[in-house]
Amino acid sequence: MKILVTGYTGQLGFDVVREGLDRGFAMVGVGSKDLNITDECSVYQYVKEINPDAIIHCAAYTAVDKAEDDKENCWNVNVDGTRYLANAAKEIKAKFMHISTDYVFDGLGEAPFVETDKPNPVGYYGRTKYEAEKIVQSLLSEYFIVRISWVFGLNGNNFIKTMLRLAETRDELNVVGDQIGSPTNTVDLSRLLLDMIQTDKYGIYHATNEGFCSWAEFAQEIFHLAEITVTVNSITTEEYPTRAVRPKNSRMSKQKLIDKGFCPLPSWQDSLGRYLNAIIHEVK
Ligand SMILES: NC(=O)c1ccc[n+]([C@@H]2O[C@H](COP(=O)([O-])OP(=O)(O)OC[C@H]3O[C@@H](n4cnc5c(N)ncnc54)[C@H](OP(=O)(O)O)[C@@H]3O)[C@@H](O)[C@H]2O)c1
Repeated sequence: MKILVTGYTGQLGFDVVREGLDRGFAMVGVGSKDLNITDECSVYQYVKEINPDAIIHCAAYTAVDKAEDDKENCWNVNVDGTRYLANAAKEIKAKFMHISTDYVFDGLGEAPFVETDKPNPVGYYGRTKYEAEKIVQSLLSEYFIVRISWVFGLNGNNFIKTMLRLAETRDELNVVGDQIGSPTNTVDLSRLLLDMIQTDKYGIYHATNEGFCSWAEFAQEIFHLAEITVTVNSITTEEYPTRAVRPKNSRMSKQKLIDKGFCPLPSWQDSLGRYLNAIIHEVK
């Protein structure tokens, strides 16, 4: 199976390519320098030339706060880029997997969102990701849309790396404690995505590590497992204003994964432990 992966230079795409290579697939990973997905002609030409059996579309404009003031670029990448790729996939009859986000939901209530809940994004990034979902659904009769959340991978920046960096100079940190979600390790996610793409169990899925926590609880567990003494003060969203509004409830139900026969991801604590070990080995 030949798989084209966008976002190869980011967190998730990098691990998807690595997992695919481990399984013996022909993986073609691209960053924006290899293929700028906002360039319609390039997308068609490139996809036709590579002629993959499947496209796993991990590329996105992911700067959630910056997007509020950089709307055009965010739209071009997340909406138009997805449209061009989905159209190209249709043309060559390749399977198409679009990676989406918990930020398509408004985060109201406390119940986990299910795949059939209606999205209602509260920020511009989430809005563009929802538009992209709708485009994929309108262009293709068969597709995978996989909503993920709070991603951490070795390749790129994420919350864990930020916490570890801040802990080098501070012994006390204020971290938001009223946004609840599921941290998700890109290594675990990549296994699931490659399991999925080999099936014809199309549809919308939620896929994250198991369990829920707040950012403050996530930070506490990072320092606990890394054996770093830092006091984490849990603060409210209102006490930590950001440019973009974020959903408070990012809980997503993964029951559909089980119903469809896919293996659920391990707990976020288990994943975090493995990730920290990998970081330590990387530093050594
Ligand atoms: N990070 C999270 O917490 C999170 C949460 C929920 C959902 N998601 C979704 O998960 C997916 C993967 O996220 P991630 O954290 O792995 O992303 P990331 O690390 O921020 O990487 C983004 C990737 O998109 C590529 N990209 C950006 N603009 C592009 C363009 N014009 N043409 C081609 N490629 C372009 C980047 O390429 P270059 O670096 O080469 O420019 C990079 O490879 C995205 O769809 C994101 O929306 C992420």
